[in-house]
Amino acid sequence: MSVPYLMEDRREAGRLVAKVDSDAWVREYLDPVLPAGAGRVLDVGAGPGHIAEAVLRARPDAEVTAFDGNPDRLAAGTGNPAGDALVRRSGDARALPFDDGSFDLVYSRLMLQYVAERERAVAEMARVTRPGGRVVLFDLDGQLVWHDPVGPELRAALDPVTEALAATGFDPHTGRRLFALARRAGLTELTVRVDPYHLIAGRIDPGEREQWALKLDIARPLIARALGGPAEAADRAVAVFLAHLDSEETLTYSVAFTVTGTVAGVAGAVSGGAAPAASR
Ligand SMILES: C[S@@+](CC[C@H](N)C(=O)[O-])C[C@H]1O[C@@H](n2cnc3c(N)ncnc32)[C@H](O)[C@@H]1O
Repeated sequence: MSVPYLMEDRREAGRLVAKVDSDAWVREYLDPVLPAGAGRVLDVGAGPGHIAEAVLRARPDAEVTAFDGNPDRLAAGTGNPAGDALVRRSGDARALPFDDGSFDLVYSRLMLQYVAERERAVAEMARVTRPGGRVVLFDLDGQLVWHDPVGPELRAALDPVTEALAATGFDPHTGRRLFALARRAGLTELTVRVDPYHLIAGRIDPGEREQWALKLDIARPLIARALGGPAEAADRAVAVFLAHLDSEETLTYSVAFTVTGTVAGVAGAVSGGAAPAASR
């Protein structure tokens, strides 16, 4: 059974894969903390496993586990043969089915924003990382909420939707919360990095527009519920938002926070041998 996820849809795996250059992301955000050789790496909220596959390409000797709340998306993978070598485990990030200290590196990309009990999920990531191992948290701040100018029509479309999103546990400001979450999980030697993520100044690029249109289409049932009116109300709200992105005069942006921390204790790579055992 799947863990509830706001963007659940049969098109979601393809959308996730299409919107990132996984190899470039791993080089940029994980390379400095990847274990040197045959270490153990866990991707929490891996979707179909595209980023985990890129980790394997960067460290072919590593044992890389892709973990996600949707067993079907995870099992289907990306169709890329590189994915055959991944370990795939499904479950809830708030109760990871791994023993304490099982991994050298645990990371989560763009999952925590959807998890209402994100403190518990980060504590779990710290628990399953070995002493001296690293945890990397990557998430957005400002997604869907930062635009300029915001006229009355866009405001009327955005406000009920962001309220409805909040009721599902989605937090568009998760990025800024990662530092405190990492501290509360007991991680040390914290580093914080902030980069532009969405940055649409003037008319949106056609490829990026397609991605937004798909995302809004997947979110359409929630938008319709939020607006509470006939289906046309959701169509109108989506059209207003896309018109904002199409305008030469508007700005939409969000930033990505990356917080990296170390699990306190005596350093030392996770020894080889049996795969991480289920602890509950
Ligand atoms: C936006 S996608 C990110 C996928 C991938 N990390 C990426 O960066 O493209 C979020 C993923 O987190 C998963 N997810 C959400 N809540 C979860 C939970 N509580 N436990 C495990 N996975 C969860 C969803 O199933 C989804 O595949």
